[in-house]
Amino acid sequence: MKIQCQQCKKVYEIPEDRIRKHGNHVRFPCPSCKGSIEVNLGAPEAPAAGQQQPEAAQAAQQDMPTGDTLKKRILRTVSDLPPMPQVAQKARQLTTDENSSFQDLAKIIETDQAIAARVLKLSNSSYYGQMGKVTSIQHASVVLGMKTLNELLTLACAGSLLGRELQGYGLSSGDLWQHSLATAGCARTIASKKKPELADDAFSAGLIHDCGKLILDKYVAERKDQFESHLAVGNKSFLAAENEVLGFDHARIASEVCEKWQIPRHITRAIECHHNPSSAGHNDLAFIVHAADAIALMSGIGAGFDGMMYQIDQKVMEALELGSDEVSMFMADAAEFVEKTSSAF
Ligand SMILES: [Fe+2]
Ligand SMILES: [Fe+2]
Repeated sequence: MKIQCQQCKKVYEIPEDRIRKHGNHVRFPCPSCKGSIEVNLGAPEAPAAGQQQPEAAQAAQQDMPTGDTLKKRILRTVSDLPPMPQVAQKARQLTTDENSSFQDLAKIIETDQAIAARVLKLSNSSYYGQMGKVTSIQHASVVLGMKTLNELLTLACAGSLLGRELQGYGLSSGDLWQHSLATAGCARTIASKKKPELADDAFSAGLIHDCGKLILDKYVAERKDQFESHLAVGNKSFLAAENEVLGFDHARIASEVCEKWQIPRHITRAIECHHNPSSAGHNDLAFIVHAADAIALMSGIGAGFDGMMYQIDQKVMEALELGSDEVSMFMADAAEFVEKTSSAF
C-alpha cells in the first residue's frame, strides 16, 4: 500500500501485512524528513463464511498433509532410517578392488561383532551346508569363498533392518523379513536358470525390494481409515491404495532409500519398478525381481493383507519364458530357502 508523509509529501510503498504486524494504528518517523507518519488501517476484514484464516488453514494442512507436501515430508524422513552398517559399505568397496581376497573380506566382517556373529550362524545353517562346522569368519571365508561370504554379509546386514513389525501394513515382526528372504532366494533361482549373470544382483535386489515400506508404514498407519475405505471398494490391492491415498507407492520411496544406502543404480532401478516392470523398458533384472516378489506373495510367506492379490505380469512371463510348472517349482524353492536360513535370525 502507498503511504505519503504529510510534511515532505514523499510516498512509500509498504506491504499492508508488514504494517499490520505492528497493529492497526501505527506511527513511525519518515525516513526522509524525520516527521511523523501516522497510519490507521482499521480492523482487518473478517474472513468470508466458510473461509479459514490462512494460519488456521496451514495448521490444518500440517496435521494431515497430502500430495507434494506429504511426499517432501516423507522424503525428509528417509534420513531418519538407520544407514546400512558401515561394514556393508566397506565390503562393497572391496568387491571393486581386483586385488582383494576372501581373507580381506573376512577381516572387514570381523570389525562388527554383531554382524560377524550372524554371518557365522548363517554359515552353519542347513542352507549353506556347514551344520556347525564353521568356527570363525576366517574359517568361513576359506570354506565358502568370497562370493558366498559376501552374500551372507548382505543377509546379516539386511536382517537387522527388515525384521521389525509394520503395523500400517499389517505385518508382524519378522513378516517383511521372511517375505524379503523368499523374494531374494526366488530371484536368485530364477536368474540362475534364465539369466545366470544376474544371479547376485537379483539376490541383493530381492532382499531389499520392499525397504520403502519401512518408511511408509508410519504414514499408512496414520491414515488407516482412508486406506480401509479404499480397500473396501472393489478388489483393490494395498499398492493401489498407497497410490490413491498417498500419491505414490513404497517402490518409489525405496529408490530414495537405496540411494542413501549407496546401492548401485541398476539395482535401485529394478527395485523402483518391481510392481510395474514394464516402466523400466526391457530390464531383465526388474523382470526377475517382479516375478520373484509375486511368487513370494502368492506362496503366502510373510504376506500382509493382500498377498494373494498379486500376479506375475504377463509380459514378464513371456520375456523370461516362465511356465506355470516352473512357477510352482520356484514357490517350493523359496519356501525351502526361508525355512533353512530364517533360523539364523
Ligand atoms: Fe513391493
Ligand atoms: Fe514384496
